[in-house]
Amino acid sequence: MEYVLKIGGSVLTDKNKEKTLSEDFDSILENLKGHENGVLVHGAGSYGHPQAEKHGVKEGSYQGVLEVHRSISELNTEILEKLSEIGLKPVPVHTSSIAYRNPETQLHLDKLSGILDEGFTPVLHGDIVPHKDKGFTIISGDEIVAKIEKQYSTGKAGFCSSVEGVLDDEGNVLDEINSMEEFTDKGMKATDVTGGMKGKVKQQIDEGVKARIFGKDGLEDFLEDRNPGTLVNPSPQ
Ligand SMILES: Nc1ncnc2c1ncn2[C@@H]1O[C@H](COP(=O)(O)OP(=O)(O)OP(=O)(O)O)[C@@H](O)[C@H]1O
Ligand SMILES: [Mg+2]
Repeated sequence: MEYVLKIGGSVLTDKNKEKTLSEDFDSILENLKGHENGVLVHGAGSYGHPQAEKHGVKEGSYQGVLEVHRSISELNTEILEKLSEIGLKPVPVHTSSIAYRNPETQLHLDKLSGILDEGFTPVLHGDIVPHKDKGFTIISGDEIVAKIEKQYSTGKAGFCSSVEGVLDDEGNVLDEINSMEEFTDKGMKATDVTGGMKGKVKQQIDEGVKARIFGKDGLEDFLEDRNPGTLVNPSPQ
């Protein structure tokens, strides 16, 4: 496993229009040509956040659980089809089938290396997850990446999102962020039930893993080891 990469729903979809792909959908995924030896995770964007919020899925309501899963699976299928068009052999791994909260998140990730060994590229996604004594809740792609990086230590975990990196209070992209004390919340443009950029950074820091956050123009640089955007580094030397 050379890398683990989450491509945000914020860049693959139009977060302001329910169930709509973004104009950049094809061009973003085309960057992955020739990079089959990694694990891809995608966010939900407008295929998950508004539906989850409407039904209170994060607060334990079963109503909407299937709608959210169906809708995210539709986005997953679109992504698989595009990746296969550019020569990858993507395989869906629906997170809800390998996850459980008790209350810590348990993710059964062992099969990922087997899928890669066969020359296929696993594609996971933010999803619904059963939660002990509380029904269902939501698991974000941000948390999934942190858990995969923790287990597999690729040294190359990344997030392609709608901003060029983590921004400071003046709106400049930070080179590095080491703790949540350094994070300034700039608010959200669209619904995000998993905490937006703040949740993304926090998941990596809580898990103690390094990851890079960058925009769509940084994706090629990330894949080619040119270090775009912001490094989340919970254990600086
Ligand atoms: N300090 C900050 N630095 C960067 N972005 C920030 C900051 N504070 C808040 N944000 C907001 O976080 C948003 C990006 O997070 P968001 O969850 O929408 O993206 P994503 O995780 O890529 O998408 P998805 O959750 O659909 O996969 C941006 O709209 C940005 O404005
Ligand atoms: Mg998000």
